[in-house]
Amino acid sequence: MKEIKSLEEVNLAVEKFYRDNRQGDNWMLNYHFETPFGLINDPNGLSYFNGEYHLFFQWNPYTCEHKYKHWGLVKTKNFIDYTMPKVVLAPTDWYDKNGCYSGSALEVNGKLELMYTGNVKDAKGNRESYQVRAICDEHGNITKVGPVVADIPKGYTAHFRDPKVFENNGKYYFVIGAQTDELKGRALLYSSEDFNTWSLKGEIETDYKDFGFMWECPGLINMDNKYIFIFSPQGLKAEEFTNQNIYQSGYLIGNLDYDTLKFTHNEFKELDMGFDFYAPQSFRDDKGRNIMIGWMGLPEEEELHPTSEYDRTQCLTMARELSIKDEVLYQRPLEEYKNLRQELLIDIEGVDVSTWVSNNIEENSYELLLDLNKRDASQVELRFAIGNDENVTLKYDFEKSIIILDRTNMKLGGKGIRKLKLHEEENFKIRMFMDKSAFEIYLNDGREVMSSRIYPQHGSVGIELLSKGGDIRIDKMKIWSLMGVRYNE
Ligand code: FRU
Repeated sequence: MKEIKSLEEVNLAVEKFYRDNRQGDNWMLNYHFETPFGLINDPNGLSYFNGEYHLFFQWNPYTCEHKYKHWGLVKTKNFIDYTMPKVVLAPTDWYDKNGCYSGSALEVNGKLELMYTGNVKDAKGNRESYQVRAICDEHGNITKVGPVVADIPKGYTAHFRDPKVFENNGKYYFVIGAQTDELKGRALLYSSEDFNTWSLKGEIETDYKDFGFMWECPGLINMDNKYIFIFSPQGLKAEEFTNQNIYQSGYLIGNLDYDTLKFTHNEFKELDMGFDFYAPQSFRDDKGRNIMIGWMGLPEEEELHPTSEYDRTQCLTMARELSIKDEVLYQRPLEEYKNLRQELLIDIEGVDVSTWVSNNIEENSYELLLDLNKRDASQVELRFAIGNDENVTLKYDFEKSIIILDRTNMKLGGKGIRKLKLHEEENFKIRMFMDKSAFEIYLNDGREVMSSRIYPQHGSVGIELLSKGGDIRIDKMKIWSLMGVRYNE
């Protein structure tokens, strides 16, 4: 990577990588999106445009540090065949010289309108923030129009970023992350008739007046006649079962009054209870699905990811379809991922066991469906990535309805535990996607999700089930090996 100096060289090196060299290492992801080199973070500009899903993302193509933020782009029609990642926006102008920060997209009159934050810092490190309009045509060429909001409103600091555009009743809006002069996180709403002239409508008023020092990557989704306000607050206090990561991402479900900007809502709920999830963005596709993708990582934790030895770090989550049930957001991996299934390795129904050990899982690239009945057990443990004296454990205490995800037995990468209290006593129903060094666990039809990076050593691949206090019943267990996605021109 050291020898790559220009964007032409970046794009050529990506092509060369996928052409020559994709056998990869033990941690190279099969179907989660990562770049061959550099650091990626937030998904940006997610949209369905011109017959293809457009997944833009924050990308430093030069080093594994949070610097030199560009926008990259991959396109796909089916979440299996992707175009090769390309750099499409570079911090080359006075208004974005220290980074083309996060932003979003909306199709308007056959063009994809993009809006992002131009980050500018002076020699002393003082920030300026510009909200920049850019337009992507049907060939994927982006033209920067320039800043359309150049001022930070009075009462707010320069931590002002991540505009998320949307349309309502024929008008355009964006919601943007902000920080008050008293260092409280907020979201502001702007509106426009033409995408060029924007006016501040005001602050979105929630019940959370003292809820972290900054809200990054806010977004408003209109779904089932409700609004879901998704945001990534920084600075919440960790509790036993909540806010265990350095920063959070979560949502409020409610209703927005566009005149008063009052948002009446229920309680904040985190979107993902694993170790690695932040800055998600959502969009609606041509089928009317609300789809969300998150960054499977967190700021300030680069040293927990040993792939930087191979000049690359971080990835995105799978694309998840959102739905609302009982005032809770459910997340479900897109149907399309079923096409990754290859061989059905395990197929069990109605068996009572106290231990179960897989003997034919050879690669950490599989999907597991598991429906367990508690029967006589008080606890069950699902262990995976087993070998070399290491493993990851997902423990469920049936009596206390507590789930513990435990990485302390891993040798490399981040460690620790994450705890989750389910809302009531439930059976243990999971769908898990394992992908080399990333996994996503969807519990109870996606009411809770746990996404994490792990760095198993070569050969740490097995799966086991262990119950305590008596037998469990495996109502259903299926494991498929999953193939990798493809990157082509
Ligand atoms: C969130 C974030 C955004 C910012 C971007 C910069 O992870 O900090 O607020 O726009 O990353 O890469």
